[in-house]
Amino acid sequence: MNDGLMNERLTGSHRVFDRVSEEYDAARPHYPEALYLALEELSGIRLDGAAVIDVGAGTGISTRGLLDRGARVVAVDRGERMLARLRARTTCPVILANGDDLPFRAGVADLVTYAQSWHWLDPALSVAEAVRVTRAGGAVAGWWNSVDPGKADWLAANQVRLAESCPGYIGPVLPGWSMPPLAAAMSGGGLDGAGAGLDVAETWVTWTRSVPLEDFLTDLRTHSYMASMDGDVVADLIARERAELGRVFPGGRLTVPMRVYLAVGRRG
Ligand SMILES: C[S@@+](CC[C@H](N)C(=O)[O-])C[C@H]1O[C@@H](n2cnc3c(N)ncnc32)[C@H](O)[C@@H]1O
Repeated sequence: MNDGLMNERLTGSHRVFDRVSEEYDAARPHYPEALYLALEELSGIRLDGAAVIDVGAGTGISTRGLLDRGARVVAVDRGERMLARLRARTTCPVILANGDDLPFRAGVADLVTYAQSWHWLDPALSVAEAVRVTRAGGAVAGWWNSVDPGKADWLAANQVRLAESCPGYIGPVLPGWSMPPLAAAMSGGGLDGAGAGLDVAETWVTWTRSVPLEDFLTDLRTHSYMASMDGDVVADLIARERAELGRVFPGGRLTVPMRVYLAVGRRG
């Protein structure tokens, strides 16, 4: 896993996200319908009526997606400001807690979800906790939305500029970059041989995001590699991207190829 990412996990990524909670709430993308359909298919669990613990719920993008499909969700996060945003427009139980040490009894959940969050937790502790609170026949799932630079030259150029300018850049143009190893952590042959013994399936969902340029720029500022940088440097980088992307999309609205990676582990 990328070193910058690992260091932030040790020092508390929730503080990085709390710093940009307003921007995160305003500009991060939602997850497409096809992602929730794939989640139901791979987990064998209908979201309508399911008891879900959404770990690393943040401002509630994943939580609302699950609630909208009828799930009974409890949102868990370590970031007070991220959760304040979630509470402001989401009606569900909310718990400020560490996902590596969940404050739930064993077997209470049909599904434990990590949307864009599992890589911030301890790989072994988190999955063991998720398995503990999931009922037999339930599932643990994680997913990550990412831009898809292989589909558009302008997006590849944008990501390369970010990789060159942001020391902690994590993303699809890095050599050897891959999605976090949740599938390995959940399966029998997991990290250091300490997998959780779940029956694992993975898939990718592609989609297209139509987004105003200013929202795309705000979204960029919420990525941990930028959120942890000096404000003046970030302002310069955003001004450069505004100019570069404005040339490609003079109408001010971007069409962004996206893809979501989903890993689901079923409990026998
Ligand atoms: C990238 S955000 C994802 C938010 C949301 N799930 C979404 O889909 O947008 C990652 C979240 O994980 C939270 N987080 C990081 N470490 C955590 C931990 N150990 N326990 C609970 N939440 C954690 C952060 O505070 C942040 O809100």
